[in-house]
Amino acid sequence: MAPQPPLLSMSGITKSFPGVRALDGVDLDVQAGEVHCLLGQNGAGKSTLIKVLAGAHQPDTGTIRWRGEDVTLRSPIAAMRLGIATIYQELDLVEHLSVAENVHLGHEPTTAGFVVRAKAAKSSTARLLKRLGHPEIDPGRLVGELSAAQQQIVSMARALSHDVRLIVMDEPSAALDPDEVANLFRIVGDLTADGVAVVYISHRLEEIRRIGDRVTVLKDGRAVAGGLPAESTPTREVVALMTGRNVEYVFPERPATAPGGEPVLTVEGLSRTGEFAPLDLQVRPGRSWGWPDSSAPDAPRSWRPSTAPANRTPAG
Ligand SMILES: Nc1ncnc2c1ncn2[C@@H]1O[C@H](COP(=O)(O)OP(=O)(O)OP(=O)(O)O)[C@@H](O)[C@H]1O
Ligand SMILES: [Mg+2]
Repeated sequence: MAPQPPLLSMSGITKSFPGVRALDGVDLDVQAGEVHCLLGQNGAGKSTLIKVLAGAHQPDTGTIRWRGEDVTLRSPIAAMRLGIATIYQELDLVEHLSVAENVHLGHEPTTAGFVVRAKAAKSSTARLLKRLGHPEIDPGRLVGELSAAQQQIVSMARALSHDVRLIVMDEPSAALDPDEVANLFRIVGDLTADGVAVVYISHRLEEIRRIGDRVTVLKDGRAVAGGLPAESTPTREVVALMTGRNVEYVFPERPATAPGGEPVLTVEGLSRTGEFAPLDLQVRPGRSWGWPDSSAPDAPRSWRPSTAPANRTPAG
C-alpha cells in the first residue's frame, strides 16, 4: 500500500517578534489518527508554531499543506473551517457567556429563530459534554463560574462542535489532577480511534510515552528532530535534543555523601483549609523529597505521585 500523504505538512515556517526569532524554519508533519507530541523547553517556540497552525499568527515565510493542498490560514475561523481546532494554553473562552454560547461561538447563524437556536445549542452542548465525560457541566452556566478543568472541557466541546480533523492541545494536562488526566487520555484515545489527529504539547515525558505516537522536538525555534517514535526513543536522547546537553550533565551524579543522615528540612502538619490536608515531609541529604506515606488516602490529592504508565514502559 502506498504511504498515506500527511494530513498536515508545515515546512520552513519562520516567525519573528521584535527582537526574537521564535520560529526558524520549522517543519512538522502530522498523519491522520496519530498523537503527535511537540516537545521543547520554555520558549522553544511550541505555542508560536501552533498559533501559526491555528491561524492566530501569520508566518513570515514557509508553507502549510493540508490534505495535500497548500493553504493560507488567515484567521482562527479559517483554520476551524478546515477542521483544525486548538485548545490553547491560556484558554480563550468568554467568561461572561454561558457554556453553550461559548461552544457555539463562531458557528454560522442558521435560519432558525433565536429561541429555537438557543435550545438546540444547549442540547447539542449537553451531548458533547457527556461524550467528554463531564455530564455534570450545565450548558446554561457562565463559563467564569467553572473550574479550570471544566473550562478546558468546554474548550474541547467547542472544538468537537465543528467537523474537526486535527486538534491541537497546548499543555492540556498542566492544570489537571490525575483523574482528570485519565479522562483527557480517554478522550484523546476516542478521537484518534475516529481518525482525528492530535498535536499534543507537554513537558511531561511520561505522558508522551503513554499516549504519543511520534515526537517532534523544538529547540530555540528549530525542529531538532521530527517524527521520532514516542514509545521507543530513549529518554536520554529526547532530553539531550530538548536541552542540547547530554543527560549526565542535566542530571549530575549525586554527591558522594551517602543518602540519609539528619533531615535538612522537616515540615509537620502543614495544611491549608479547603486545599490540602495536614502534611508531614522530610528532606534528607542525597534523597529526593517525599511525604512519609504518599499513598495514604488523605495525602494531598494534587501532590500524590501520578499512576504508572498503563501499557507502555519507559525506555532509556
Ligand atoms: N506575541 C509575542 N511577542 C513577542 N515575543 C513572543 C510572542 N510570543 C512568543 N514570543 C517569544 O517567542 C519565543 C517562543 O515562545 P513560545 O511561547 O512559542 O514558546 P513555548 O515553547 O510555547 O514555551 P512555553 O513552554 O513556556 O509555553 C519566546 O522567546 C517568547 O518570548
Ligand atoms: Mg507555550
